[in-house]
Amino acid sequence: MVAEETIIEVDNLTFRYDLRKVEHTLSAISFSIKQGEWVAIVGGNGSGKSTLVRLLVGLLEAELGTITIDGVRLNEETKWEIRKKIGLVFQNPENQFIGTTVQDDVAFGLENNNVGYEEMKQRVDEALRFVDMDKYWDQDPSRLSGGQKQRVAIAGILAFKPHVIILDEAFVMLDPKSRKQLLSTLKKLREENNITIITVTHDMNEAACADRIVVMDQGAIIQDSTPEHVFMNNEQLSSPFAEQLRRKLGENGSNVPQSYMTEDEMVKWLCK
Ligand SMILES: Nc1ncnc2c1ncn2[C@@H]1O[C@H](COP(=O)(O)OP(=O)(O)OP(=O)(O)O)[C@@H](O)[C@H]1O
Ligand SMILES: [Mg+2]
Repeated sequence: MVAEETIIEVDNLTFRYDLRKVEHTLSAISFSIKQGEWVAIVGGNGSGKSTLVRLLVGLLEAELGTITIDGVRLNEETKWEIRKKIGLVFQNPENQFIGTTVQDDVAFGLENNNVGYEEMKQRVDEALRFVDMDKYWDQDPSRLSGGQKQRVAIAGILAFKPHVIILDEAFVMLDPKSRKQLLSTLKKLREENNITIITVTHDMNEAACADRIVVMDQGAIIQDSTPEHVFMNNEQLSSPFAEQLRRKLGENGSNVPQSYMTEDEMVKWLCK
Protein backbone atom coordinates (compact mmCIF):
# COMPACT_ATOMS: atom_id res chain seq x y z
CA MET A 1 0.00 0.00 0.00
CA VAL A 2 1.29 3.45 -0.93
CA ALA A 3 1.68 5.91 1.95
CA GLU A 4 -1.39 8.09 2.21
CA GLU A 5 -0.30 11.52 1.12
CA THR A 6 -2.51 14.54 0.76
CA ILE A 7 -2.77 15.51 -2.90
CA ILE A 8 -5.44 18.22 -2.65
CA GLU A 9 -5.74 20.68 0.18
CA VAL A 10 -8.46 23.33 0.07
CA ASP A 11 -8.52 25.89 2.83
CA ASN A 12 -11.18 28.49 3.45
CA LEU A 13 -12.03 28.77 -0.24
CA THR A 14 -14.40 31.62 -0.96
CA PHE A 15 -15.66 32.74 -4.34
CA ARG A 16 -18.31 34.81 -6.08
CA TYR A 17 -18.85 35.36 -9.79
CA ASP A 18 -20.03 38.91 -9.35
CA LEU A 19 -17.99 41.02 -6.94
CA ARG A 20 -20.75 43.61 -6.86
CA LYS A 21 -23.03 41.13 -5.14
CA VAL A 22 -22.76 40.30 -1.47
CA GLU A 23 -23.76 36.64 -1.69
CA HIS A 24 -20.94 34.21 -2.25
CA THR A 25 -21.16 31.28 -4.62
CA LEU A 26 -18.77 29.35 -2.34
CA SER A 27 -18.17 30.31 1.23
CA ALA A 28 -15.23 29.14 3.34
CA ILE A 29 -14.86 25.66 1.88
CA SER A 30 -12.15 23.47 3.41
CA PHE A 31 -11.31 19.82 2.80
CA SER A 32 -8.42 17.62 1.81
CA ILE A 33 -8.11 14.59 -0.42
CA LYS A 34 -5.50 11.88 -0.17
CA GLN A 35 -3.68 10.43 -3.13
CA GLY A 36 -5.59 7.42 -4.46
CA GLU A 37 -8.82 8.45 -2.81
CA TRP A 38 -12.15 8.52 -4.70
CA VAL A 39 -14.37 11.39 -3.63
CA ALA A 40 -17.88 12.05 -4.93
CA ILE A 41 -19.27 15.57 -4.76
CA VAL A 42 -23.07 15.70 -4.65
CA GLY A 43 -25.68 18.37 -4.00
CA GLY A 44 -28.62 20.11 -5.67
CA ASN A 45 -28.49 22.23 -8.83
CA GLY A 46 -26.65 25.46 -8.22
CA SER A 47 -25.06 24.30 -4.96
CA GLY A 48 -21.58 25.14 -6.30
CA LYS A 49 -20.12 21.79 -7.38
CA SER A 50 -18.96 22.85 -10.85
CA THR A 51 -17.69 26.16 -9.52
CA LEU A 52 -15.59 24.25 -6.99
CA VAL A 53 -14.01 21.97 -9.60
CA ARG A 54 -13.33 24.90 -11.94
CA LEU A 55 -11.48 26.58 -9.09
CA LEU A 56 -9.49 23.40 -8.46
CA VAL A 57 -8.01 23.47 -11.97
CA GLY A 58 -7.50 27.23 -11.99
CA LEU A 59 -10.25 28.08 -14.50
CA LEU A 60 -11.59 30.51 -11.90
CA GLU A 61 -9.71 32.49 -9.32
CA ALA A 62 -10.55 32.36 -5.62
CA GLU A 63 -11.46 35.52 -3.80
CA LEU A 64 -10.13 34.16 -0.52
CA GLY A 65 -8.51 30.95 0.63
CA THR A 66 -5.98 28.59 -0.89
CA ILE A 67 -5.79 25.49 -3.03
CA THR A 68 -2.70 23.30 -2.86
CA ILE A 69 -2.24 20.48 -5.35
CA ASP A 70 0.54 17.97 -4.78
CA GLY A 71 2.36 20.42 -2.52
CA VAL A 72 2.12 23.34 -4.98
CA ARG A 73 -0.01 26.35 -4.16
CA LEU A 74 -2.33 27.15 -7.08
CA ASN A 75 -1.90 30.63 -8.56
CA GLU A 76 -1.53 32.33 -11.97
CA GLU A 77 2.07 31.12 -12.35
CA THR A 78 1.63 27.54 -11.14
CA LYS A 79 -1.68 26.76 -12.81
CA TRP A 80 -0.09 25.41 -16.02
CA GLU A 81 2.14 23.08 -14.06
CA ILE A 82 -0.82 21.96 -11.97
CA ARG A 83 -2.99 21.30 -15.01
CA LYS A 84 -0.52 18.63 -16.08
CA LYS A 85 -1.42 16.74 -12.94
CA ILE A 86 -5.14 17.27 -12.81
CA GLY A 87 -7.56 16.53 -15.63
CA LEU A 88 -11.16 17.75 -15.80
CA VAL A 89 -13.94 16.34 -17.98
CA PHE A 90 -17.04 18.52 -18.22
CA GLN A 91 -20.63 17.47 -18.58
CA ASN A 92 -20.96 18.86 -22.10
CA PRO A 93 -18.56 17.27 -24.57
CA GLU A 94 -19.48 19.60 -27.46
CA ASN A 95 -17.03 22.29 -26.40
CA GLN A 96 -14.12 19.99 -25.73
CA PHE A 97 -12.99 19.02 -29.24
CA ILE A 98 -10.00 20.36 -31.08
CA GLY A 99 -8.75 17.59 -33.38
CA THR A 100 -10.17 16.57 -36.76
CA THR A 101 -10.01 12.87 -35.94
CA VAL A 102 -10.70 11.07 -32.69
CA GLN A 103 -7.06 10.03 -32.51
CA ASP A 104 -5.75 13.60 -33.04
CA ASP A 105 -8.12 14.86 -30.47
CA VAL A 106 -6.97 12.44 -27.80
CA ALA A 107 -3.34 13.19 -28.70
CA PHE A 108 -3.77 16.95 -28.57
CA GLY A 109 -2.78 17.55 -24.97
CA LEU A 110 0.19 15.21 -25.31
CA GLU A 111 1.61 16.94 -28.38
CA ASN A 112 1.67 20.12 -26.37
CA ASN A 113 3.57 18.45 -23.60
CA ASN A 114 6.56 17.06 -25.45
CA VAL A 115 5.59 13.42 -25.25
CA GLY A 116 7.50 11.47 -27.93
CA TYR A 117 5.71 9.94 -30.93
CA GLU A 118 5.90 6.27 -29.92
CA GLU A 119 4.79 6.90 -26.40
CA MET A 120 2.04 9.23 -27.59
CA LYS A 121 0.67 6.64 -29.99
CA GLN A 122 0.73 3.99 -27.30
CA ARG A 123 -1.03 6.20 -24.76
CA VAL A 124 -3.70 7.27 -27.27
CA ASP A 125 -4.42 3.67 -28.32
CA GLU A 126 -4.61 2.53 -24.73
CA ALA A 127 -6.90 5.40 -23.68
CA LEU A 128 -9.23 4.75 -26.63
CA ARG A 129 -9.37 1.06 -25.73
CA PHE A 130 -10.16 1.97 -22.14
CA VAL A 131 -13.28 3.83 -23.21
CA ASP A 132 -14.10 1.29 -25.94
CA MET A 133 -13.68 3.82 -28.76
CA ASP A 134 -10.60 2.35 -30.50
CA LYS A 135 -12.67 1.41 -33.56
CA TYR A 136 -13.45 5.08 -34.13
CA TRP A 137 -9.86 6.34 -34.11
CA ASP A 138 -10.02 7.92 -37.60
CA GLN A 139 -13.53 9.39 -37.34
CA ASP A 140 -14.47 13.04 -37.16
CA PRO A 141 -15.30 13.66 -33.48
CA SER A 142 -18.01 16.17 -34.32
CA ARG A 143 -19.99 13.38 -35.99
CA LEU A 144 -20.08 11.08 -32.98
CA SER A 145 -23.09 10.64 -30.70
CA GLY A 146 -23.18 12.52 -27.38
CA GLY A 147 -22.09 9.52 -25.35
CA GLN A 148 -19.32 8.64 -27.80
CA LYS A 149 -18.04 12.22 -27.69
CA GLN A 150 -18.01 12.06 -23.95
CA ARG A 151 -16.01 8.83 -24.02
CA VAL A 152 -13.45 10.44 -26.35
CA ALA A 153 -13.21 13.42 -23.99
CA ILE A 154 -12.53 11.00 -21.14
CA ALA A 155 -9.88 9.22 -23.24
CA GLY A 156 -8.20 12.60 -23.82
CA ILE A 157 -7.81 13.01 -20.08
CA LEU A 158 -6.74 9.40 -19.46
CA ALA A 159 -4.00 9.64 -22.11
CA PHE A 160 -2.53 12.46 -20.11
CA LYS A 161 -2.03 10.11 -17.16
CA PRO A 162 -3.01 12.73 -14.61
CA HIS A 163 -2.53 12.24 -10.87
CA VAL A 164 -6.06 13.48 -10.36
CA ILE A 165 -9.05 13.06 -12.65
CA ILE A 166 -12.18 15.12 -12.12
CA LEU A 167 -15.40 14.12 -13.84
CA ASP A 168 -18.13 16.75 -13.63
CA GLU A 169 -21.28 14.85 -14.54
CA ALA A 170 -19.21 13.33 -17.31
CA PHE A 171 -21.30 10.15 -17.41
CA VAL A 172 -24.66 11.82 -17.97
CA MET A 173 -24.70 11.07 -21.70
CA LEU A 174 -23.65 7.47 -21.31
CA ASP A 175 -25.97 4.50 -21.55
CA PRO A 176 -26.15 2.35 -18.40
CA LYS A 177 -23.81 -0.30 -19.79
CA SER A 178 -21.09 2.20 -20.79
CA ARG A 179 -21.50 3.94 -17.46
CA LYS A 180 -20.87 0.69 -15.59
CA GLN A 181 -17.91 -0.12 -17.85
CA LEU A 182 -16.32 3.28 -17.30
CA LEU A 183 -16.83 3.12 -13.57
CA SER A 184 -15.00 -0.20 -13.46
CA THR A 185 -12.28 1.23 -15.73
CA LEU A 186 -11.81 4.02 -13.21
CA LYS A 187 -11.68 1.54 -10.34
CA LYS A 188 -9.03 -0.42 -12.19
CA LEU A 189 -6.98 2.69 -12.98
CA ARG A 190 -7.08 3.68 -9.39
CA GLU A 191 -5.93 0.27 -8.21
CA GLU A 192 -3.14 0.08 -10.76
CA ASN A 193 -1.92 3.68 -10.80
CA ASN A 194 -3.17 5.06 -7.50
CA ILE A 195 -4.85 7.98 -9.30
CA THR A 196 -7.15 10.23 -7.33
CA ILE A 197 -10.72 10.51 -8.59
CA ILE A 198 -13.28 13.22 -8.02
CA THR A 199 -16.73 12.61 -9.48
CA VAL A 200 -19.42 15.26 -9.41
CA THR A 201 -22.71 13.48 -9.82
CA HIS A 202 -26.46 13.37 -9.21
CA ASP A 203 -26.40 9.59 -9.55
CA MET A 204 -26.24 8.06 -6.09
CA ASN A 205 -25.25 4.65 -7.46
CA GLU A 206 -22.22 6.36 -8.93
CA ALA A 207 -21.55 8.30 -5.72
CA ALA A 208 -21.71 5.00 -3.82
CA CYS A 209 -18.53 3.88 -5.68
CA ALA A 210 -16.53 6.57 -3.87
CA ASP A 211 -14.63 6.22 -0.59
CA ARG A 212 -16.09 9.50 0.56
CA ILE A 213 -19.03 11.69 -0.33
CA VAL A 214 -18.93 15.47 0.02
CA VAL A 215 -22.42 16.96 0.12
CA MET A 216 -22.78 20.60 -0.92
CA ASP A 217 -25.63 22.97 -0.27
CA GLN A 218 -25.73 26.68 -1.15
CA GLY A 219 -22.00 27.00 -1.60
CA ALA A 220 -21.01 25.16 1.56
CA ILE A 221 -20.06 21.61 2.48
CA ILE A 222 -22.76 20.20 4.75
CA GLN A 223 -21.51 16.62 4.97
CA ASP A 224 -18.20 14.91 4.28
CA SER A 225 -18.20 11.26 5.15
CA THR A 226 -18.32 7.66 3.93
CA PRO A 227 -21.19 6.64 1.60
CA GLU A 228 -22.49 4.47 4.42
CA HIS A 229 -22.71 7.40 6.81
CA VAL A 230 -24.07 9.88 4.26
CA PHE A 231 -26.83 7.59 2.99
CA MET A 232 -27.88 6.60 6.51
CA ASN A 233 -27.99 10.21 7.69
CA ASN A 234 -29.17 12.36 4.81
CA GLU A 235 -32.90 12.37 4.15
CA GLN A 236 -32.56 14.69 1.13
CA LEU A 237 -30.44 12.37 -0.97
CA SER A 238 -32.10 9.49 -2.75
CA SER A 239 -30.03 6.51 -1.73
CA PRO A 240 -28.45 4.02 -4.12
CA PHE A 241 -30.64 1.18 -5.27
CA ALA A 242 -29.17 -1.41 -2.86
CA GLU A 243 -29.81 0.88 0.10
CA GLN A 244 -33.40 1.56 -0.97
CA LEU A 245 -33.95 -2.16 -1.33
CA ARG A 246 -32.47 -2.82 2.12
CA ARG A 247 -34.84 -0.32 3.72
CA LYS A 248 -37.89 -1.62 1.86
CA LEU A 249 -37.10 -5.21 2.83
CA GLY A 250 -36.67 -4.09 6.44
CA GLU A 251 -40.00 -2.25 6.41
CA ASN A 252 -41.66 -5.37 5.08
CA GLY A 253 -40.42 -7.42 8.00
CA SER A 254 -37.45 -9.08 6.34
CA ASN A 255 -34.44 -9.75 8.55
CA VAL A 256 -32.03 -7.51 6.58
CA PRO A 257 -28.86 -6.11 8.19
CA GLN A 258 -29.46 -2.83 10.02
CA SER A 259 -26.77 -0.82 8.27
CA TYR A 260 -25.95 0.34 4.75
CA MET A 261 -24.84 -2.27 2.24
CA THR A 262 -23.05 -1.81 -1.06
CA GLU A 263 -24.53 -3.44 -4.15
CA ASP A 264 -22.05 -6.31 -3.85
CA GLU A 265 -22.89 -6.84 -0.19
CA MET A 266 -26.59 -6.80 -1.00
CA VAL A 267 -26.15 -9.36 -3.78
CA LYS A 268 -24.17 -11.63 -1.43
CA TRP A 269 -26.81 -11.27 1.25
CA LEU A 270 -29.64 -12.02 -1.19
CA CYS A 271 -27.85 -15.06 -2.56
CA LYS A 272 -27.16 -16.55 0.87
N1 LIG B 1 -20.56 31.73 -15.20
C1 LIG B 1 -21.36 32.08 -14.18
N2 LIG B 1 -21.63 33.38 -13.93
C2 LIG B 1 -22.43 33.75 -12.89
N3 LIG B 1 -23.00 32.87 -12.04
C3 LIG B 1 -22.77 31.57 -12.24
C4 LIG B 1 -21.94 31.10 -13.31
N4 LIG B 1 -21.88 29.76 -13.27
C5 LIG B 1 -22.65 29.40 -12.22
N5 LIG B 1 -23.17 30.47 -11.60
C6 LIG B 1 -24.03 30.47 -10.38
O1 LIG B 1 -23.27 29.91 -9.32
C7 LIG B 1 -24.05 29.01 -8.55
C8 LIG B 1 -23.38 27.65 -8.51
O2 LIG B 1 -23.38 27.09 -9.80
P1 LIG B 1 -22.66 25.73 -10.16
O3 LIG B 1 -22.65 25.62 -11.64
O4 LIG B 1 -21.37 25.66 -9.46
O5 LIG B 1 -23.67 24.67 -9.51
P2 LIG B 1 -23.69 23.08 -9.59
O6 LIG B 1 -23.69 22.60 -8.19
O7 LIG B 1 -22.60 22.60 -10.47
O8 LIG B 1 -25.12 22.81 -10.22
P3 LIG B 1 -25.62 21.65 -11.25
O9 LIG B 1 -25.93 20.46 -10.41
O10 LIG B 1 -26.85 22.24 -11.83
O11 LIG B 1 -24.55 21.41 -12.26
C9 LIG B 1 -25.44 29.01 -9.17
O12 LIG B 1 -26.25 29.85 -8.42
C10 LIG B 1 -25.22 29.56 -10.56
O13 LIG B 1 -26.34 30.28 -10.98
MG1 LIG C 1 -22.57 21.58 -12.33
